[in-house]
Amino acid sequence: MRKWVLAAAMVAAMPVAASAADAEAGKTVFNKCKACHQIGEGAKNAVGPHLDGVIGRKAGAAEGFNYSDALKNSGITWDEANFKAYIEDPKKKIPGNKMVFMGLKNPDDRDNLFEYLKSQSPAK
Ligand code: HEC
Repeated sequence: MRKWVLAAAMVAAMPVAASAADAEAGKTVFNKCKACHQIGEGAKNAVGPHLDGVIGRKAGAAEGFNYSDALKNSGITWDEANFKAYIEDPKKKIPGNKMVFMGLKNPDDRDNLFEYLKSQSPAK
């Protein structure tokens, strides 16, 4: 029984391993964010802060954006783990933050989106 479960788990995991995270696909996922966020050349704060260089940045650091206290005081940096947890369920990761987004439930979407945002985050 144990062996069988393990084999089934491995089969289930294979398609994920086969589809490497992809910034191009992440750009499409980013369409869900565009109502509120800008990214790329000339990006400005809108409903949400601009997301240029957001990966590796401290939370609440986009100049001139009026963040919630919850986000500003979260003390986190947008590394891979924090970003993915936030985007999966923003209210759970940072209770009281004001981003109204239901979250991305598909792990592939989160992986691809992360790659896309990273591609827009020049190393400092
Ligand atoms: C309905 C508008 C809205 C949508 C849609 C939205 N966001 Fe946000 N986002 C916000 C707001 C507002 C904040 C600031 C939250 C706060 O201050 O509590 C925010 C904050 C963030 C932050 C933190 C930025 C920082 O400078 O610390 C990240 C990262 C982020 N959003 C990513 C995304 C991504 C990726 C998507 C799409 C999957 C998305 N958001 C969709 C409104 C939105």
